[in-house]
Amino acid sequence: MSEPHLARVIPLRELRSASADAQIAAYATKTAGKSVLDRLGRPLRDLRISVTDRCNFRCSYCMPKEVFGRDYRYLPHDSLLNFDEITRLSRQFVELGVRKLRLTGGEPLLRKNVEQLVRQLSELRTPEGEEIDLTMTTNGALLASKARALKEAGLNRVTVSLDGLNDEVFKRMNDVDFPVGKVLKGIEAAQAAGISNIKVNMVVKRGTNEHEVLPMAKFFRGTGVTLRFIEFMDVGATNGWRMADVVPSEDIVRLISSELPLVPLAASSAGETAQRYGYAGQNGQPDKLLGEVGVISSVTKAFCSDCNRARLSTEGRLFLCLFGSQGVDLRQFLRGENPMSDVELINVIAGIWQSRADRYSELREKVLVMPSLQRSARPEMSYIGG
Ligand code: GTP
Ligand code: 5AD
Ligand code: SF4
Ligand code: SF4
Repeated sequence: MSEPHLARVIPLRELRSASADAQIAAYATKTAGKSVLDRLGRPLRDLRISVTDRCNFRCSYCMPKEVFGRDYRYLPHDSLLNFDEITRLSRQFVELGVRKLRLTGGEPLLRKNVEQLVRQLSELRTPEGEEIDLTMTTNGALLASKARALKEAGLNRVTVSLDGLNDEVFKRMNDVDFPVGKVLKGIEAAQAAGISNIKVNMVVKRGTNEHEVLPMAKFFRGTGVTLRFIEFMDVGATNGWRMADVVPSEDIVRLISSELPLVPLAASSAGETAQRYGYAGQNGQPDKLLGEVGVISSVTKAFCSDCNRARLSTEGRLFLCLFGSQGVDLRQFLRGENPMSDVELINVIAGIWQSRADRYSELREKVLVMPSLQRSARPEMSYIGG
């Protein structure tokens, strides 16, 4: 992987020295718009921002009720990054190469006025003046009422989580008795509002919803919505993950192709999570009208080698891996008596990215001998963003 422009990063301790201002100003001109690479040569392209650690669902693989019950202590409001802070940080990430921003949670639509944040982020531009690929992952519960406002604020695509079409199965998975029909209404509302690029993500758990794979594929084929199947992951410390509960993507592709022929498609961008397959038409070639499906094999076929994703937690900690135990507190640089300038922030973020060597999914097997990777040390997905 080669990058034409590499930013040299001024170490943090130099930044705050007396003569730093002139150095920083000169450096800023040189660095703007250039990419940084981590220790494994991976660029920074994708920032996933968790805007709340709360959710109105209790999916067993993410926020099991026994842990996220009445007594669970969510973050207090003043510890959350506000919209201006998120926008300011995002701008620095874009300077360093980020081209995709994803709002997640928890459930992002629970964050009050989140459409205002969408508006602010949609106004960001790359150093070349291009728009940013701005998207959101939602459980769809509030999408029917919010779709129009989100579209008007500048959201052009959305990913909805939906783990089955059968009400009983879906309710068992969301654990709050939420019906499938309301999520489907949310998807329809997003389509009607003109959000054209819609994906549906289904986490597949053995013995729970694997029999929903084919009905889901049949339902979404030809609708313009791209369905993706995700292997159940050992993220966080509370979801009771066992390898035996993982349905390998290979099995899913085999199952779907037994009834609906599939043709492998090329990756649409570097570092993509999903392997894509087009539905074949009569001539055996992918038929655009039938659309595509994807499988995300985070367990059986790790995709760390070109992982270009960073995560910003609800309270402003920067995580370099979904399984990273430590985040770096960026909020401290924004608040207080002596907040950092934009250039200082860019340097700090670049320095953090340059120190990155995370590749948890590739190392999963070795976890037992690496205490920092063990489950008890891991943040929950609802906190750092999916
Ligand atoms: P698109 O831009 O629409 O292709 O989205 P994406 O696939 O990059 O993001 P999305 O949030 O839709 O990811 C789907 C699922 O893939 C997540 O919910 C996770 O389960 C998994 N996933 C995403 N990113 C990572 C990652 O960096 N590491 C691992 N292990 N899993 C990931
Ligand atoms: N395994 C895989 N995906 C998960 N998600 C949350 N927890 C897990 C897990 N344990 C992802 C799902 C869901 C999104 C919000 O986060 O894709 O749709
Ligand atoms: Fe909420 Fe999504 Fe987690 Fe389910 S997977 S509990 S909808 S954040
Ligand atoms: Fe990236 Fe970590 Fe996921 Fe690997 S496990 S793909 S490094 S976030």
